Amino acid sequence: MNATSINKIGVFTSGGDAPGMNAAIRAVVRASNFFQKESMGIARGYEGMIEGDISKLGTRSVGNIIQRGGTILKSARSETFRTKEGRAKAIAQLRKHGIDGLVAIGGDGTFTGLHALIEESGIPAICVPGTIDNDIAGTDYTIGYDTATNTAVEAIDRIRDTALSHNRLFFIEVMGRHSGYIALNSAIAGGAVAVIIPEAETTFDELYTILEQSGKANKKSSLVVVAEGAKLTAMDLARMVAERSNYFDIKVTILGHLQRGGSPTYFDRVLASQMGVAAVEGLLGGKTDCMVGIRNGKMVYNSFKDIMNGQTHEIDPGALRLAKILST
Ligand code: F6P
Repeated sequence: MNATSINKIGVFTSGGDAPGMNAAIRAVVRASNFFQKESMGIARGYEGMIEGDISKLGTRSVGNIIQRGGTILKSARSETFRTKEGRAKAIAQLRKHGIDGLVAIGGDGTFTGLHALIEESGIPAICVPGTIDNDIAGTDYTIGYDTATNTAVEAIDRIRDTALSHNRLFFIEVMGRHSGYIALNSAIAGGAVAVIIPEAETTFDELYTILEQSGKANKKSSLVVVAEGAKLTAMDLARMVAERSNYFDIKVTILGHLQRGGSPTYFDRVLASQMGVAAVEGLLGGKTDCMVGIRNGKMVYNSFKDIMNGQTHEIDPGALRLAKILST
Protein backbone atom coordinates (compact mmCIF):
# COMPACT_ATOMS: atom_id res chain seq x y z
CA MET A 1 0.00 0.00 0.00
CA ASN A 2 0.97 3.62 -0.51
CA ALA A 3 3.29 2.61 -3.29
CA THR A 4 2.47 5.52 -5.55
CA SER A 5 3.18 9.18 -5.08
CA ILE A 6 -0.47 10.21 -4.85
CA ASN A 7 -1.03 12.84 -2.17
CA LYS A 8 -4.32 14.54 -2.87
CA ILE A 9 -7.38 12.52 -3.84
CA GLY A 10 -10.33 14.26 -5.47
CA VAL A 11 -13.78 12.73 -5.09
CA PHE A 12 -16.99 13.57 -6.92
CA THR A 13 -20.45 12.23 -7.71
CA SER A 14 -21.82 12.34 -11.23
CA GLY A 15 -24.94 11.33 -13.17
CA GLY A 16 -28.18 10.48 -11.39
CA ASP A 17 -27.82 10.55 -7.61
CA ALA A 18 -28.28 7.30 -5.69
CA PRO A 19 -28.84 6.54 -1.99
CA GLY A 20 -25.50 5.51 -0.53
CA MET A 21 -23.40 8.02 -2.48
CA ASN A 22 -22.79 9.93 0.75
CA ALA A 23 -21.57 6.77 2.44
CA ALA A 24 -19.16 6.29 -0.46
CA ILE A 25 -17.86 9.88 -0.22
CA ARG A 26 -17.35 9.38 3.50
CA ALA A 27 -15.45 6.15 2.88
CA VAL A 28 -13.16 7.78 0.32
CA VAL A 29 -12.36 10.69 2.66
CA ARG A 30 -11.84 8.51 5.72
CA ALA A 31 -9.71 5.98 3.83
CA SER A 32 -7.58 8.78 2.37
CA ASN A 33 -7.10 10.15 5.86
CA PHE A 34 -6.23 6.66 7.14
CA PHE A 35 -3.43 6.51 4.56
CA GLN A 36 -2.38 10.10 5.39
CA LYS A 37 -3.58 11.56 2.12
CA GLU A 38 -5.57 14.74 1.61
CA SER A 39 -9.07 14.71 0.11
CA MET A 40 -10.74 17.28 -2.08
CA GLY A 41 -14.46 17.37 -2.81
CA ILE A 42 -15.42 18.33 -6.36
CA ALA A 43 -18.98 19.69 -6.46
CA ARG A 44 -21.55 18.97 -9.21
CA GLY A 45 -19.58 16.26 -10.97
CA TYR A 46 -17.75 17.13 -14.16
CA GLU A 47 -19.50 20.51 -14.30
CA GLY A 48 -17.96 21.57 -10.99
CA MET A 49 -14.61 20.15 -12.09
CA ILE A 50 -14.61 22.37 -15.17
CA GLU A 51 -15.58 25.41 -13.10
CA GLY A 52 -13.10 24.66 -10.30
CA ASP A 53 -15.82 24.17 -7.67
CA ILE A 54 -13.36 22.24 -5.51
CA SER A 55 -12.71 22.39 -1.78
CA LYS A 56 -10.93 20.47 0.95
CA LEU A 57 -12.80 17.67 2.73
CA GLY A 58 -11.74 16.57 6.19
CA THR A 59 -12.89 13.56 8.15
CA ARG A 60 -15.26 15.79 10.18
CA SER A 61 -16.86 17.24 7.07
CA VAL A 62 -18.15 13.78 6.18
CA GLY A 63 -19.58 13.15 9.66
CA ASN A 64 -23.33 12.51 9.97
CA ILE A 65 -23.84 11.75 6.27
CA ILE A 66 -23.73 7.94 6.12
CA GLN A 67 -27.50 7.77 6.70
CA ARG A 68 -28.43 10.53 4.28
CA GLY A 69 -29.80 10.09 0.76
CA GLY A 70 -28.71 12.29 -2.15
CA THR A 71 -25.13 13.50 -2.35
CA ILE A 72 -23.52 16.29 -0.32
CA LEU A 73 -21.28 16.98 -3.32
CA LYS A 74 -24.32 17.37 -5.59
CA SER A 75 -24.44 15.83 -9.02
CA ALA A 76 -24.88 16.81 -12.65
CA ARG A 77 -24.82 15.44 -16.16
CA SER A 78 -22.29 17.55 -18.07
CA GLU A 79 -22.52 18.14 -21.82
CA THR A 80 -19.37 20.33 -21.80
CA PHE A 81 -17.24 17.50 -20.39
CA ARG A 82 -18.10 15.42 -23.46
CA THR A 83 -15.93 17.81 -25.49
CA LYS A 84 -12.13 17.77 -25.48
CA GLU A 85 -12.06 21.50 -24.68
CA GLY A 86 -14.32 20.92 -21.68
CA ARG A 87 -12.09 18.13 -20.42
CA ALA A 88 -8.97 20.31 -20.92
CA LYS A 89 -10.52 22.93 -18.61
CA ALA A 90 -11.32 20.24 -16.03
CA ILE A 91 -7.78 18.87 -16.18
CA ALA A 92 -6.33 22.38 -15.72
CA GLN A 93 -8.50 22.80 -12.59
CA LEU A 94 -7.35 19.45 -11.18
CA ARG A 95 -3.71 20.47 -11.70
CA LYS A 96 -4.32 23.90 -10.17
CA HIS A 97 -5.73 22.25 -7.02
CA GLY A 98 -2.89 19.70 -6.86
CA ILE A 99 -5.23 16.72 -7.30
CA ASP A 100 -3.16 13.71 -8.34
CA GLY A 101 -5.70 10.92 -7.90
CA LEU A 102 -9.46 10.73 -8.48
CA VAL A 103 -12.42 8.69 -7.32
CA ALA A 104 -15.59 9.11 -9.39
CA ILE A 105 -18.90 7.84 -8.03
CA GLY A 106 -21.52 7.32 -10.73
CA GLY A 107 -22.80 5.19 -13.57
CA ASP A 108 -21.54 4.19 -17.01
CA GLY A 109 -21.55 7.78 -18.36
CA THR A 110 -19.33 8.77 -15.42
CA PHE A 111 -16.90 5.95 -16.14
CA THR A 112 -16.79 6.79 -19.86
CA GLY A 113 -15.93 10.42 -19.00
CA LEU A 114 -13.32 9.27 -16.50
CA HIS A 115 -11.65 7.03 -19.08
CA ALA A 116 -11.26 10.00 -21.45
CA LEU A 117 -9.91 12.17 -18.64
CA ILE A 118 -7.30 9.55 -17.68
CA GLU A 119 -6.17 9.18 -21.31
CA GLU A 120 -5.84 12.94 -21.76
CA SER A 121 -4.30 13.81 -18.37
CA GLY A 122 -2.50 10.72 -17.07
CA ILE A 123 -4.09 11.37 -13.65
CA PRO A 124 -4.87 7.99 -12.06
CA ALA A 125 -8.57 7.50 -11.37
CA ILE A 126 -10.99 4.81 -10.24
CA CYS A 127 -14.76 4.62 -10.61
CA VAL A 128 -17.21 3.48 -7.92
CA PRO A 129 -20.54 2.29 -9.40
CA GLY A 130 -23.36 4.42 -8.02
CA THR A 131 -26.70 4.22 -9.80
CA ILE A 132 -30.08 2.87 -8.80
CA ASP A 133 -30.36 1.08 -12.15
CA ASN A 134 -27.87 -1.74 -11.35
CA ASP A 135 -27.04 -1.77 -15.04
CA ILE A 136 -23.24 -1.90 -14.99
CA ALA A 137 -21.28 -4.97 -16.03
CA GLY A 138 -18.57 -6.16 -13.63
CA THR A 139 -20.52 -5.78 -10.40
CA ASP A 140 -23.40 -7.75 -8.93
CA TYR A 141 -24.73 -4.60 -7.27
CA THR A 142 -24.40 -0.86 -7.74
CA ILE A 143 -24.77 1.60 -4.86
CA GLY A 144 -28.40 2.71 -4.50
CA TYR A 145 -30.08 -0.19 -6.24
CA ASP A 146 -31.02 -2.00 -3.03
CA THR A 147 -32.55 1.13 -1.48
CA ALA A 148 -34.44 2.06 -4.64
CA THR A 149 -35.85 -1.45 -4.98
CA ASN A 150 -36.97 -1.47 -1.34
CA THR A 151 -38.65 1.90 -1.93
CA ALA A 152 -40.43 0.51 -4.99
CA VAL A 153 -41.57 -2.56 -3.04
CA GLU A 154 -42.95 -0.38 -0.24
CA ALA A 155 -44.88 1.68 -2.80
CA ILE A 156 -46.18 -1.47 -4.50
CA ASP A 157 -47.41 -2.79 -1.14
CA ARG A 158 -49.35 0.44 -0.58
CA ILE A 159 -50.84 0.33 -4.07
CA ARG A 160 -51.85 -3.29 -3.47
CA ASP A 161 -54.04 -2.21 -0.52
CA THR A 162 -56.05 0.21 -2.60
CA ALA A 163 -56.04 -2.04 -5.69
CA LEU A 164 -57.60 -4.81 -3.61
CA SER A 165 -60.21 -2.53 -2.06
CA HIS A 166 -61.46 -1.47 -5.50
CA ASN A 167 -60.73 -4.61 -7.55
CA ARG A 168 -58.46 -2.63 -9.83
CA LEU A 169 -55.70 -3.39 -12.28
CA PHE A 170 -52.64 -1.18 -11.68
CA PHE A 171 -49.74 -0.56 -13.99
CA ILE A 172 -46.81 0.63 -11.87
CA GLU A 173 -43.87 2.19 -13.64
CA VAL A 174 -40.50 1.97 -11.89
CA MET A 175 -37.16 3.53 -12.89
CA GLY A 176 -34.57 1.86 -15.07
CA ARG A 177 -33.63 3.72 -18.21
CA HIS A 178 -32.30 0.68 -20.05
CA SER A 179 -32.58 -1.85 -17.29
CA GLY A 180 -35.22 -4.07 -15.71
CA TYR A 181 -33.46 -4.82 -12.41
CA ILE A 182 -35.65 -2.67 -10.16
CA ALA A 183 -38.76 -3.81 -12.04
CA LEU A 184 -38.02 -7.52 -11.94
CA ASN A 185 -37.07 -7.74 -8.29
CA SER A 186 -39.74 -5.35 -7.02
CA ALA A 187 -42.28 -7.36 -9.03
CA ILE A 188 -41.15 -10.60 -7.39
CA ALA A 189 -41.09 -9.04 -3.91
CA GLY A 190 -44.35 -7.15 -4.46
CA GLY A 191 -46.27 -10.13 -5.84
CA ALA A 192 -47.00 -8.66 -9.28
CA VAL A 193 -48.97 -10.67 -11.83
CA ALA A 194 -46.54 -9.65 -14.59
CA VAL A 195 -43.37 -7.67 -15.14
CA ILE A 196 -42.39 -5.86 -18.32
CA ILE A 197 -38.68 -5.14 -18.79
CA PRO A 198 -36.53 -4.06 -21.74
CA GLU A 199 -34.33 -7.17 -21.55
CA ALA A 200 -37.21 -9.62 -22.11
CA GLU A 201 -39.98 -7.91 -24.00
CA THR A 202 -43.39 -9.40 -23.34
CA THR A 203 -45.79 -8.76 -26.24
CA PHE A 204 -49.08 -7.05 -25.55
CA ASP A 205 -50.94 -10.26 -26.47
CA GLU A 206 -48.87 -12.26 -23.97
CA LEU A 207 -49.65 -9.72 -21.25
CA TYR A 208 -53.34 -9.67 -22.12
CA THR A 209 -53.50 -13.48 -21.89
CA ILE A 210 -51.94 -13.34 -18.41
CA LEU A 211 -54.50 -10.74 -17.31
CA GLU A 212 -57.39 -12.72 -18.79
CA GLN A 213 -56.23 -15.89 -17.07
CA SER A 214 -55.86 -14.16 -13.73
CA GLY A 215 -59.40 -12.78 -14.14
CA LYS A 216 -60.66 -16.31 -14.84
CA ALA A 217 -58.70 -17.58 -11.82
CA ASN A 218 -60.79 -15.21 -9.74
CA LYS A 219 -58.03 -12.72 -9.06
CA LYS A 220 -59.80 -9.59 -7.87
CA SER A 221 -57.01 -7.14 -8.50
CA SER A 222 -53.70 -7.25 -10.30
CA LEU A 223 -50.44 -5.34 -10.28
CA VAL A 224 -48.21 -5.15 -13.35
CA VAL A 225 -44.74 -3.66 -12.84
CA VAL A 226 -43.27 -1.94 -15.90
CA ALA A 227 -39.68 -0.76 -16.24
CA GLU A 228 -39.35 2.80 -17.49
CA GLY A 229 -37.14 1.56 -20.34
CA ALA A 230 -39.57 -1.05 -21.68
CA LYS A 231 -40.75 -0.57 -25.27
CA LEU A 232 -44.39 -0.25 -24.19
CA THR A 233 -44.75 2.12 -21.23
CA ALA A 234 -47.21 1.71 -18.35
CA MET A 235 -49.41 4.37 -20.00
CA ASP A 236 -49.30 2.57 -23.38
CA LEU A 237 -50.21 -0.75 -21.81
CA ALA A 238 -53.07 0.72 -19.75
CA ARG A 239 -54.50 2.36 -22.86
CA MET A 240 -54.18 -0.80 -24.94
CA VAL A 241 -55.90 -2.98 -22.31
CA ALA A 242 -58.72 -0.44 -21.99
CA GLU A 243 -59.13 -0.41 -25.77
CA ARG A 244 -59.48 -4.17 -25.88
CA SER A 245 -61.86 -4.66 -22.97
CA ASN A 246 -63.92 -2.74 -20.47
CA TYR A 247 -63.66 -5.60 -17.97
CA PHE A 248 -60.78 -3.97 -16.08
CA ASP A 249 -60.86 -0.88 -13.89
CA ILE A 250 -57.37 0.43 -14.72
CA LYS A 251 -55.04 2.87 -12.94
CA VAL A 252 -51.45 3.88 -13.62
CA THR A 253 -48.86 4.98 -11.04
CA ILE A 254 -45.45 6.26 -12.08
CA LEU A 255 -43.11 6.08 -9.10
CA GLY A 256 -40.45 8.32 -10.66
CA HIS A 257 -37.84 10.15 -8.62
CA LEU A 258 -39.13 9.12 -5.22
CA GLN A 259 -37.08 5.96 -5.90
CA ARG A 260 -33.92 8.06 -5.98
CA GLY A 261 -34.27 9.61 -2.54
CA GLY A 262 -34.36 8.41 1.04
CA SER A 263 -32.02 6.98 3.61
CA PRO A 264 -29.85 4.17 2.20
CA THR A 265 -30.46 0.62 3.41
CA TYR A 266 -27.82 -1.10 5.54
CA PHE A 267 -26.81 -3.01 2.40
CA ASP A 268 -26.11 0.15 0.38
CA ARG A 269 -24.25 1.76 3.29
CA VAL A 270 -21.97 -1.23 3.71
CA LEU A 271 -21.48 -1.67 -0.04
CA ALA A 272 -20.65 2.03 -0.46
CA SER A 273 -18.23 1.88 2.47
CA GLN A 274 -16.46 -1.18 1.05
CA MET A 275 -16.28 0.30 -2.44
CA GLY A 276 -15.05 3.71 -1.28
CA VAL A 277 -12.23 2.16 0.71
CA ALA A 278 -11.39 -0.27 -2.13
CA ALA A 279 -11.17 2.67 -4.55
CA VAL A 280 -8.63 4.50 -2.39
CA GLU A 281 -6.66 1.32 -1.74
CA GLY A 282 -6.68 0.58 -5.46
CA LEU A 283 -5.40 4.05 -6.34
CA LEU A 284 -2.65 3.90 -3.75
CA GLY A 285 -1.76 0.41 -4.92
CA GLY A 286 -1.14 1.75 -8.44
CA LYS A 287 -4.45 0.90 -10.11
CA THR A 288 -6.14 3.25 -12.56
CA ASP A 289 -8.82 3.28 -15.28
CA CYS A 290 -10.87 0.65 -13.52
CA MET A 291 -14.13 0.30 -11.66
CA VAL A 292 -14.58 -1.29 -8.29
CA GLY A 293 -17.21 -4.02 -8.22
CA ILE A 294 -18.61 -6.69 -5.95
CA ARG A 295 -18.65 -10.20 -7.36
CA ASN A 296 -19.83 -13.09 -5.24
CA GLY A 297 -19.34 -11.02 -2.09
CA LYS A 298 -15.78 -9.92 -2.91
CA MET A 299 -14.35 -6.57 -4.02
CA VAL A 300 -12.92 -6.70 -7.54
CA TYR A 301 -11.39 -4.19 -9.97
CA ASN A 302 -12.68 -4.22 -13.55
CA SER A 303 -10.70 -2.55 -16.31
CA PHE A 304 -12.54 -0.10 -18.58
CA LYS A 305 -12.12 -2.29 -21.65
CA ASP A 306 -13.49 -5.36 -19.86
CA ILE A 307 -16.79 -3.88 -18.76
CA MET A 308 -17.65 -0.92 -20.94
CA ASN A 309 -18.06 -0.71 -24.72
CA GLY A 310 -21.63 -1.93 -24.82
CA GLN A 311 -21.34 -4.68 -22.21
CA THR A 312 -24.38 -5.03 -20.01
CA HIS A 313 -25.25 -6.46 -16.63
CA GLU A 314 -27.33 -9.43 -17.72
CA ILE A 315 -30.65 -10.16 -16.08
CA ASP A 316 -30.70 -13.55 -14.39
CA PRO A 317 -33.05 -15.81 -16.40
CA GLY A 318 -33.73 -17.66 -13.11
CA ALA A 319 -35.28 -14.49 -11.66
CA LEU A 320 -37.51 -14.10 -14.71
CA ARG A 321 -38.62 -17.73 -14.36
CA LEU A 322 -39.33 -17.16 -10.67
CA ALA A 323 -41.53 -14.16 -11.43
CA LYS A 324 -43.47 -16.25 -13.95
CA ILE A 325 -43.97 -19.28 -11.67
CA LEU A 326 -45.17 -17.12 -8.76
CA SER A 327 -47.64 -15.03 -10.73
CA THR A 328 -50.07 -17.86 -11.53
O1 F6P B 1 -29.85 6.31 -14.15
C1 F6P B 1 -30.64 6.45 -13.03
C2 F6P B 1 -31.98 7.03 -13.38
O2 F6P B 1 -32.70 7.22 -12.20
C3 F6P B 1 -32.80 6.24 -14.40
O3 F6P B 1 -33.47 5.15 -13.82
C4 F6P B 1 -33.69 7.31 -14.95
O4 F6P B 1 -34.11 6.99 -16.25
C5 F6P B 1 -32.81 8.51 -14.97
O5 F6P B 1 -31.82 8.31 -13.99
C6 F6P B 1 -33.52 9.82 -14.71
O6 F6P B 1 -32.62 10.85 -14.82
P1 F6P B 1 -32.91 12.37 -14.44
O7 F6P B 1 -32.99 12.44 -12.95
O8 F6P B 1 -31.78 13.12 -15.00
O9 F6P B 1 -34.23 12.69 -15.07
